[in-house]
Amino acid sequence: MLLKASPALSILNSGVGDLFPPSNVLFPSTTCRGSRLSVRAAKGTSTKSLTGVVFEPFEEVKKDMDLLVPTTPLTSLARHKFSDESESAVNEQINVEYNVSYIYHALYAYFDRDNVGLKGFANFFKDSSTEERGHAEKFMEYQNKRGGRVKLQSILMPFSEFDHEEKGDALYAMELALSLEKLTNEKLLKLQSVGVKNNDVQLVDFVESEFLGEQVEAIKKISEYVAQLRRIGKGHGVWHFDQMLLDEQELLHAG
Ligand SMILES: [Fe+2]
Repeated sequence: MLLKASPALSILNSGVGDLFPPSNVLFPSTTCRGSRLSVRAAKGTSTKSLTGVVFEPFEEVKKDMDLLVPTTPLTSLARHKFSDESESAVNEQINVEYNVSYIYHALYAYFDRDNVGLKGFANFFKDSSTEERGHAEKFMEYQNKRGGRVKLQSILMPFSEFDHEEKGDALYAMELALSLEKLTNEKLLKLQSVGVKNNDVQLVDFVESEFLGEQVEAIKKISEYVAQLRRIGKGHGVWHFDQMLLDEQELLHAG
């Protein structure tokens, strides 16, 4: 921003007899309509302010017009203060969210099998998969908002069997989910640090306000599930845990 010292500062040092401001000092008139405040410059006054500093937008933009409003058709018009490093970090996060979503979808398919039949687990992982895909979409929307380009990368093929000899399938799946949520948290923190490194306050704010809090909540919730399943073991209690998951989902969808 171009700031210039203004000769209008002389009003601050004027004597008692000098009661009227010079003609180049802005003297706003103020009106209130309902709760809206409107400030207008009186007709014939210049743009100089009482503070002695003046923002001259036309002077400011004319030297950078080509940079601020690019004319090449493939260049984003909206992009502003968004580094290449931030752009690729957002694309990496989209890939992380999709990968996690894919694994949760595989877990849904496993628990929905006729010879497994744990509908609470199946629905829990189906919802989790949808949620992670939603996160990917949120990052895609953000990438476009900042004038970056979404580049989708490959998703790895997940496992399809989740039964563990010692732990059983329920505990093993929930421990897997906990490790995935912690991994996602690590990736989000990395993305936030890319924003900090590039002085991208908007990216930092987006990650912090939309994701980091929610991620901590998810880690706490799944940690509790893991702790409860460790108490339960592999037997009859798993069926009760599954019923509890069904009840929780019913409440969630009703709300
Ligand atoms: Fe996520």
